[in-house]
Amino acid sequence: MSYDHFYYKGFRFLKDVHTEESINHAENEFEVFDDDIYNITFPKSGTNWMIEILNLIKHKGDVTKSNAVPIQMRSPWYETTMAKEQIDNLDPPRIITSHLPQQIFAKSFFKSKAKIIYTLRNPRDVIVSLFHFTKIVNLFTPIENFQNFIDYFVQGETLYGTWFDHVKGWMQMKDDERFFYITYEELLQDLRGSVVRLCKFLGQELDDAQIDLVVEHSTFKSMKKNPMSNWSQSDILDNSKGSFMRKGISGDWKNHFTVAQSEYFDKIYQEKMKDFNMSFFWEQSS
Ligand code: A3P
Repeated sequence: MSYDHFYYKGFRFLKDVHTEESINHAENEFEVFDDDIYNITFPKSGTNWMIEILNLIKHKGDVTKSNAVPIQMRSPWYETTMAKEQIDNLDPPRIITSHLPQQIFAKSFFKSKAKIIYTLRNPRDVIVSLFHFTKIVNLFTPIENFQNFIDYFVQGETLYGTWFDHVKGWMQMKDDERFFYITYEELLQDLRGSVVRLCKFLGQELDDAQIDLVVEHSTFKSMKKNPMSNWSQSDILDNSKGSFMRKGISGDWKNHFTVAQSEYFDKIYQEKMKDFNMSFFWEQSS
């Protein structure tokens, strides 16, 4: 897949959306506040879903903001060129999004009490979601052939480095009390239980009715119909070619990978993750 990019410390970034200065600022100058909450993901892992959930938790289920403010303004990607003004407009506690790898994340975070929510997704479904997403992003020339796309993904030509390094980098923090990780598949299987766990981690006390509201407004169906959450008004996407809120399921990879492609990917996965002594929810439940 082709797009205008540049490298920062070995990681690929999209030109115009990022610049050397914006990434350098994100790594070295950005000021993290102790009450900040960071929503971190590898792209297509449930980033926007988590933005919706965290903002609804912050507002105890009140949908006023979700219905009025575009999702990318509610929790801006702090490494992008347009982030500064968006972040200045956030009320505390700020909920800030990032796809940055751990190695170049805000240095000031590591001296703060701020919290991180890291959401992961089965990489096979990440590949499928990204494959479709690249077709609707105006800045990309997509790869049409799925095998070529798998190669693009595993060879680390993706933005922000490889999925494997992203996960291994961030998961080094798994025992840190400021770090909470959850999978897209757990959110799908038990959204309410996941919201309850998130509230506990964030120290947010919501009653049952408020939790019900968070769940109701963060389902795929609700977000797909909310123009402030479904990216239908974004000029970065060509919504005539497909929808950002595409399917919202797990296991769609089975409709895309041939048996040979699945075995090919498994082999690479085993090799790249061989020193990583953890199995994820999607492995246990499949
Ligand atoms: P699919 O393309 O598989 O449908 P990100 O926000 O990281 O870019 O991830 C986008 C993926 O999350 C898309 O997956 C999108 O449909 C899915 N998604 C967004 N909101 C969701 C929700 N409320 N429930 C389930 N999936 C959701």
